[in-house]
Amino acid sequence: MIIAIDGPAGSGKSTAAKIIAQRLNFRYIDTGAMYRAVALSAQRKNADLHDLDIIAKIAEKLDIQLIPQAEGQQVLADGEDVTALLKNETVGAGAAIVAAQPKVREVLIAKQRELGKKGGVVMDGRDIGTVVFPNAEFKFFMEANPEERGRRRYLELKEKNPSANLEEIIEQVKRRDHEDRNRKISPLVMAEDGMLLDTTRFNPNEVVEQILEIIEKK
Ligand code: C5P
Repeated sequence: MIIAIDGPAGSGKSTAAKIIAQRLNFRYIDTGAMYRAVALSAQRKNADLHDLDIIAKIAEKLDIQLIPQAEGQQVLADGEDVTALLKNETVGAGAAIVAAQPKVREVLIAKQRELGKKGGVVMDGRDIGTVVFPNAEFKFFMEANPEERGRRRYLELKEKNPSANLEEIIEQVKRRDHEDRNRKISPLVMAEDGMLLDTTRFNPNEVVEQILEIIEKK
């Protein structure tokens, strides 16, 4: 069984996906981390993120390992633990640029399909229910208003960076969403048979309960 959870940044998908995976004893896979790992690697090499050939080569060569952990997932890029480095918004913005490139998506989607082929996974991203696993048993699409999504990202980022600025983060989140929703390849859209959950007014546990109830009913 595959549970696909898609939605924009700050919609609460990874928090919910992690808890659901724990509750069902499934593996949690955060696909955004893969796009972030490619972006980080390119940024460290001072590569032009818009250069399709260079970025394609980086994506093809980079060995990305997702190691399941109690509190989520550890990410190894060419053997180095980059988990903490992936979380900042500079890497997030870079991820949105490389994620719009066909070769990068081809390489990463192949890895995602490999990871999910045996089932028993909760996978979160932007195109899991539409492209990666269009036959997933469950497809959830999470939304929340942009101000609330920015506020959630701000609270996460502020722990590491006390000078994080709320207004700036709301703007960054809106910009990244706009790019994700309007790109030509695998844009962020809800699958036709997806289930929409607006999480604006719900805390993570309430969202998890709604999802588990839907899964149990089926
Ligand atoms: O989910 P996260 O914020 O870590 O994703 C970072 C970026 O990676 C997104 O803004 C999006 O551009 C890209 N992404 C994607 N497809 C996925 C997961 C992430 O295009 N399945």
